[in-house]
Amino acid sequence: MSSDSFSRVGVAGLVAGAAATAFVGPALSRSAPSPAGAAPAFRGTSQSTASGVSFGTAALGTATLAAVATSARKQRTSRTAKVVRQQAPPSTAVAERKTEDLTGALPDCPGTIWNAEDIDIKKLPPVKQTAPLIIDAAELGDELKKGTEKQWVAAQKDKIMAQLQDHGAIWFRNFETTKQPDGFREFYEALQLNPCLDPIHTSGLRAMEEKKHAVYEAVNKPSLAGHFVGLHNESTFVKTATYGAFVCFKQASEGGGEFLIADGAKILEDMDPAVLERIYTNKVRISVSNLDLNFLGSLPDGMRESASDFFQDLIFKVVAPKFDMDLEMVYGADQSNPYRLQAIEHAQSPINKHPVTGQPVWFCNLHNHSRYLRDRRPCTVPEVGMTDVYSGDLSAIPYDDVRHINEVCEKNIQVMAMKEGDVVLLDNYRVLHGRNTFKGDRKHAVTWFESCGEPLANNQKQKPDDFMNELINKTLV
Ligand SMILES: [Fe+2]
Repeated sequence: MSSDSFSRVGVAGLVAGAAATAFVGPALSRSAPSPAGAAPAFRGTSQSTASGVSFGTAALGTATLAAVATSARKQRTSRTAKVVRQQAPPSTAVAERKTEDLTGALPDCPGTIWNAEDIDIKKLPPVKQTAPLIIDAAELGDELKKGTEKQWVAAQKDKIMAQLQDHGAIWFRNFETTKQPDGFREFYEALQLNPCLDPIHTSGLRAMEEKKHAVYEAVNKPSLAGHFVGLHNESTFVKTATYGAFVCFKQASEGGGEFLIADGAKILEDMDPAVLERIYTNKVRISVSNLDLNFLGSLPDGMRESASDFFQDLIFKVVAPKFDMDLEMVYGADQSNPYRLQAIEHAQSPINKHPVTGQPVWFCNLHNHSRYLRDRRPCTVPEVGMTDVYSGDLSAIPYDDVRHINEVCEKNIQVMAMKEGDVVLLDNYRVLHGRNTFKGDRKHAVTWFESCGEPLANNQKQKPDDFMNELINKTLV
């Protein structure tokens, strides 16, 4: 789960490691002095540039989500490049797909498609259908007995993907072949879904459960069993998976661990317009790690300023690119410590329009990352990995607003006690996900997808630094 606390622990760990290495390095040489410990002076002023892409609604009417993702990436790399629309091949193409080993062969996660300007939140369109739609193999009877589950899914592919667009998520229950990774792979390939890396793969914080099938583990580690994963899209400011498929290989042996989803369109519909107006206007910024460089306070005047700048610059240049999250390094944003260096995403809208339908949706990980909320529910993340969410100007979001947003999010949570073999397919731009705390052993997994149909063109395979992923999962986790 990309922007979950699991990742944040590792982010902080990596940042800390890099900083420690740097401190014994040769040079405190480059930085211009700046006011030591003066938090506002260290706050960045830069704004995000080309990382997010806005699309006009008119251009989206007939495009598939995959097509939009394609065009988004092309827009990011070349504004003059010809946009190629993605078309799904006929269903018969499924049979020709090879189940090759996907180790090292996955394309990067697509760029986030931002379409967040000029949303009239006082005139939101009605939400006609919501998540989840349930497809129960036990209720299909003779229809399923005519062939294998894979054949049934392949034959229903177009209908299923249309239903997914309408509902935002589909819960497949009582399927047999999806109880094992290879059967799960057959399932998603029958839908012509093309796997990709998760948005923070480069960080090395997400272990892949079954590399050859592109299956990531879904926050099953015992150290995080008691941690509640709040609602979030699998998204950063710059990267967003198009679809996701969660699968249960084993329920938590001693209870809990239910998968949670919430419809971003319904959340928006239920929100107090005044709160919505405020947060939409102010935007949000998400802090992903805290690094307390308290030794800076012990340095003599003159050296303190240059050292502060040095570490800010070093961590930004050496570590932040690994996460490809468009982070800014900011001292003292949470007002707790002037020498606390926080990695913070740039200002972004908490509302986005769905790339295909144009439906405005709550597209914000506040429910998962708000420090105010984390402090009031089961949370096992150490201070260094604690996240927070600020207004766009780095001021605190009013607690009354945070409480209201929390209430609306929780009102819309659908608790899904997935059983072995159950799959939840979700539209990652429409539906947020999370999971309950659990006890015992649990084995849930997830595969992320860039597109449906033919794989997107020009998406370089395993483009991000997989070395980092390998290293951290073998050493730090
Ligand atoms: Fe997630």
